[in-house]
Amino acid sequence: MTDEDQNFTVRADGPYIVRGGIPLVRKKQVMSEYGEPLDWQKESDLSTQDVYRLCRCGQSSNKPFCDGSHTKVEFDGTETADTGPISARRKTFESPKIFIEDDHSLCMHSGFCGNRITNIWKMREESNESAVLAQIIGMIERCPSGTLAYRLEPGGEVIEPDLPKEVVVIPDGPLWITGGIPVERSDGEPLETRNRVTLCRCGASAKKPLCDGSHKDIGFSDT
Ligand code: FES
Repeated sequence: MTDEDQNFTVRADGPYIVRGGIPLVRKKQVMSEYGEPLDWQKESDLSTQDVYRLCRCGQSSNKPFCDGSHTKVEFDGTETADTGPISARRKTFESPKIFIEDDHSLCMHSGFCGNRITNIWKMREESNESAVLAQIIGMIERCPSGTLAYRLEPGGEVIEPDLPKEVVVIPDGPLWITGGIPVERSDGEPLETRNRVTLCRCGASAKKPLCDGSHKDIGFSDT
């Protein structure tokens, strides 16, 4: 098995097909007493075959796996997400010690970029302080969708966290694909391969196959 054999494909109005024995795990957000997301915690490994199918319509009785419900509910899985490069959409926020790269079209509101007091766009003005800089970097690296990344010098390399090649099931939320796994639309067109991608599994996103945060609006539950 080579890395080229590992991929994630979208089936038209149907599930995701995962090939190549990619590990499937559950991870949850660690929250503060005020409901602010602080970190990720692995909960469990899920047992799979080499090829497995994951629910995309949100209606399966065997989530995260597909049970064929998309046919019964006549799921409309029309894929409208931009397949172009993130570099064409990013905006750079400059500051003394860090250059924040932000593609807000990918945001699914996980909330790691702020807390009840401040956020990384305000904190960047104090990034001369190493403790603040470290906090900003940590918040950016925990962003699941890859909306946020950073450079430490102008024109320097965009720095991404080192993430394993795996599919993460987020409770009552999207699938989080990490480690640069190729994702292909149902018409065969690839999305740009990125280190962090969040894919809709509630069926309600307006930017399928990407998650846009709609799972919170509809109160999606995967139990
Ligand atoms: S899981 Fe569907 S919008 Fe997030």
